[in-house]
Amino acid sequence: MTETFSNVYDDADRARAYAELEFPGTYYLAFRDIPALLRKHVRGTRALDFGCGTGRSTRFLRDLAFEAVGVDVSELMLEQARGRDPQGDYRLVADGTLAPFGTGTLDLVLAAFTFDNIPTDREKTSALRELRRLLVTPGGRLLAVVSSPAIYCHEWASFSTRDYPDNRAARDGDAVRIVMLDVPDRRPVIDVLCSDTRYRELFEAAGLRVVDAVRPLATGAEPVQWVSETRIPPWTLYVLGAA
Ligand SMILES: C[S@@+](CC[C@H](N)C(=O)[O-])C[C@H]1O[C@@H](n2cnc3c(N)ncnc32)[C@H](O)[C@@H]1O
Repeated sequence: MTETFSNVYDDADRARAYAELEFPGTYYLAFRDIPALLRKHVRGTRALDFGCGTGRSTRFLRDLAFEAVGVDVSELMLEQARGRDPQGDYRLVADGTLAPFGTGTLDLVLAAFTFDNIPTDREKTSALRELRRLLVTPGGRLLAVVSSPAIYCHEWASFSTRDYPDNRAARDGDAVRIVMLDVPDRRPVIDVLCSDTRYRELFEAAGLRVVDAVRPLATGAEPVQWVSETRIPPWTLYVLGAA
């Protein structure tokens, strides 16, 4: 199932559609537990939003009183972020070049869904190493919000995978497809599968340790027509620190 991977978000239509998203349906569960996790694990307010896309995760951090800079590899996504939030600080980074942020300068790096789109283990490890370098020591934290492998094999309030049965046979590093139901653009997003076991290997290889890990489930009390979300966690949130 290996195929050449290109960033599906570097696309004007996709960027426009993504810019309309806030935190509907299944996305709500990815962000619900973040404020409590940050209160528990992060001291200080200097933050980087790595893979900020159209800026909703950067604005989320700012609303929690972080001084957040957003970076992304897609200028098309950044244009949308700047258009929505002209006061925000959104910067283009070529893969892996975060040198302008110095070393040991950040209390928090958030990577919300970014690693779903970084294709190879080598690139993931290199990005993780670079993010670890940015964290203050001791105490700096990287919060990686990633898609659980199960998200690609079930139906959800915000996603459908029923047209992609090949997802079920996918292994670490394989492309998987998922349709976002909250936006008009129904072309599948192509992500790269990465299991919990593989993520933990990559974190270790990058000199990071898992400080906390959360797999959010819906309670059923939310005003959302859940599909799988009360039984199967769609996301994993890893809080990481330097090993
Ligand atoms: C699913 S979007 C998430 C955007 C945002 N974090 C949010 O929660 O709305 C993933 C973003 O990661 C970006 N991305 C992919 N690879 C990246 C890399 N190596 N460095 C920085 N950004 C990257 C993509 O361009 C895309 O905008």
